[in-house]
Amino acid sequence: MENTIAVLGGTGKLGAALARRWAKAGRQVIIGSRTAGKAAEAAARLGAGLGTTIRAATNLEAARAAGIVVVTVPFASQQGILEEIRPVVAGKIVIDTTVPLVPPKVMRVQLPPEGCAALRARALLGEDVRLVSAFHNVAAHKLATDETVDCDVLVFGDDRQARAVAVELANRAGLRGLHAGGLASSAAAEALTSVLIFLNKTYRVDGAGIRITGQLDIGAAAE
Ligand SMILES: NC(=O)c1ccc[n+]([C@@H]2O[C@H](COP(=O)([O-])OP(=O)(O)OC[C@H]3O[C@@H](n4cnc5c(N)ncnc54)[C@H](OP(=O)(O)O)[C@@H]3O)[C@@H](O)[C@H]2O)c1
Repeated sequence: MENTIAVLGGTGKLGAALARRWAKAGRQVIIGSRTAGKAAEAAARLGAGLGTTIRAATNLEAARAAGIVVVTVPFASQQGILEEIRPVVAGKIVIDTTVPLVPPKVMRVQLPPEGCAALRARALLGEDVRLVSAFHNVAAHKLATDETVDCDVLVFGDDRQARAVAVELANRAGLRGLHAGGLASSAAAEALTSVLIFLNKTYRVDGAGIRITGQLDIGAAAE
């Protein structure tokens, strides 16, 4: 259970792509949905493509059964899903991917009153959850392929060990995860997503990503 990953909203664009990459890398994955049947359908489809088994459940049951819970639902649904899982995620690692996009103006940075979606998650889940935020800047449709995705994953959180788990999961998904700071700094990556959407439109890019330049001593982050 400890290493099992529940992907809530795993029927969607980002969640399905992450679930598929982690399952392909040999991790135990449970796809969560508001509807068990929809989760089962997505899990069967993704599992068949990989020749492996992916489990499926409602979001609540998936969160209950896993040690690592990844939240991949739209900003408008973030509050509802976090309130639903709060009773079953105490002590667990929760990785929130929420970008506070407010349609139709998704190219404009619109951070919520809490400061960012990650801090909103902290307020909703309480202090006894090992909360991390990540994957804000990765284009889901690129992640859904077997191609290399040219994007770094900035990982934020106040619990260093939990952050390291998310960095490793980004690496296992074929990306480069980087420790990027405390939870409050998640505002930077969340805001960048609107900038990337603007760049996509302006320069006709099919899913711009971000890259941290310079020779990073990756091992130094573990010291
Ligand atoms: N798409 C990207 O490229 C990308 C990249 C980086 C970050 N993100 C972030 O990742 C999150 C998910 O994005 P997405 O594009 O994957 O979203 P999505 O495909 O539109 O939706 C994901 C899933 O959320 C669930 N959902 C929808 N409305 C809901 C509601 N009212 N309550 C609970 N669950 C609901 C649905 O699952 P069920 O119907 O099965 O319950 C849906 O399949 C967002 O916060 C987004 O900002 C997305």
